[in-house]
Amino acid sequence: MKLHVLSFGCQMNEADALELSYPFLARGFEPCAVLADADAVLVNTCTVRAHAEHRAVSAVGRLEAWKAARPGRLVVVAGCAAERLGPELRRRFPFVDLVLGARSVEETPALIARALEERGAGPAATDVRPPPGISAYLTVARGCGFACAYCIVPSVRGPDRPRALDRVLEEARRLADGGARELVLLGQTVNGWKDREGRVFADLLRALAEVPGVLRLRFMSPHPLFLDEALAAAMAEIPAVCPQLHLPVQSGSDRVLAAMGRGYTCADFLSRVRSVRARVSGLALSTDLLVGFPGETAEDFRGTLSLIDEAELAGAYCFKYSPREGTPSFALADDVEPRVKEERHALLLERAEGRRSAELRSWVGRSVEVLLETPTGGRTPQFHPARFASPAGAPGTLVEAEVTGCSQAGLLVQAARRRPLP
Ligand code: 5AD
Ligand code: SF4
Repeated sequence: MKLHVLSFGCQMNEADALELSYPFLARGFEPCAVLADADAVLVNTCTVRAHAEHRAVSAVGRLEAWKAARPGRLVVVAGCAAERLGPELRRRFPFVDLVLGARSVEETPALIARALEERGAGPAATDVRPPPGISAYLTVARGCGFACAYCIVPSVRGPDRPRALDRVLEEARRLADGGARELVLLGQTVNGWKDREGRVFADLLRALAEVPGVLRLRFMSPHPLFLDEALAAAMAEIPAVCPQLHLPVQSGSDRVLAAMGRGYTCADFLSRVRSVRARVSGLALSTDLLVGFPGETAEDFRGTLSLIDEAELAGAYCFKYSPREGTPSFALADDVEPRVKEERHALLLERAEGRRSAELRSWVGRSVEVLLETPTGGRTPQFHPARFASPAGAPGTLVEAEVTGCSQAGLLVQAARRRPLP
């Protein structure tokens, strides 16, 4: 029996999809890349923008013929769009066997297990989790405790639920024992992690850095409000923490930031960024930018363009505002004309691409440490992809390399010397 997984959206969804696949694997399913060969399909949907939801829902619709070809096949739809649309999805697609929301993702593996048992699947094997990759996601918090005006995440993923330190450490040890060398900590506002004993995110980083085998730590996505001195200090002091931050700012206009309910001004954002830069050399900072929020003027937009340069960004993901039902800003008129949104989006992309190219070019001629994910490729501490012309070592090895050139895809590098695993 074979399982095909289709995951849309963010890294969190990718990590969830992996977790939701375990009950299948425990009952003898094997992962399978080709839908036509599969007996079950798991669709993990996204709803952050209308376009993302539409793509995910269309993918579900296309499964009707796949299921009809062999009616014993199983269709499971999970994730954020499943949470938002629940009953509507069941009505529109009666061939779907199970619709599971993202809010209670902790409980969904049990629901999948029950559905499989009802269909006569045998007893579950105890641990079937496949070995992790060299770089592995580790969810440290679920849900979101903010209420940014445009964002549907809090309503589909529920309130912020940080995982207990022991649970996170246990999973980190399992991943590292299985061969992971880089852990990417995931949470909607990951650096807001805290526990009942009063430990904060900087403490979590220090504890994870002690796990044997862990060479690198990254985290996504931090919220500017939690980027405090303690975190800046932890980033500077813990060698395993990479000099890289993907810190969503959303807008470079104080007026728009206030309307979004982000809780900071451009000056706050820049001063927090400067404080990290002052301590962490070679920091690569990227961000998310949202254009066309209700009421965004040409001047607001110019603020966003100039923030890209002021913050010395190494890159940005740029999105056009998409009104989402159930969010605070849904009540506001979506009054930035589509043509204007399009133009602003294109300008942002161009500026962000320009910054990314400049960042990559700035590394040419310098040396970098590459964590190999394949014999010929890996990432630098700044998260830039690095490619060797010939095999440079075993995956999981850190390799000192010279940067000889770059392309839009990343850096071209040449091995200098190798460092064995600890
Ligand atoms: N419209 C457009 N972009 C959005 N994002 C979140 N909600 C919306 C929306 N309604 C963007 C934000 C966020 C990223 C994950 O998606 O920039 O940081
Ligand atoms: Fe959405 Fe804001 Fe929470 Fe991020 S912090 S998930 S943008 S509500």
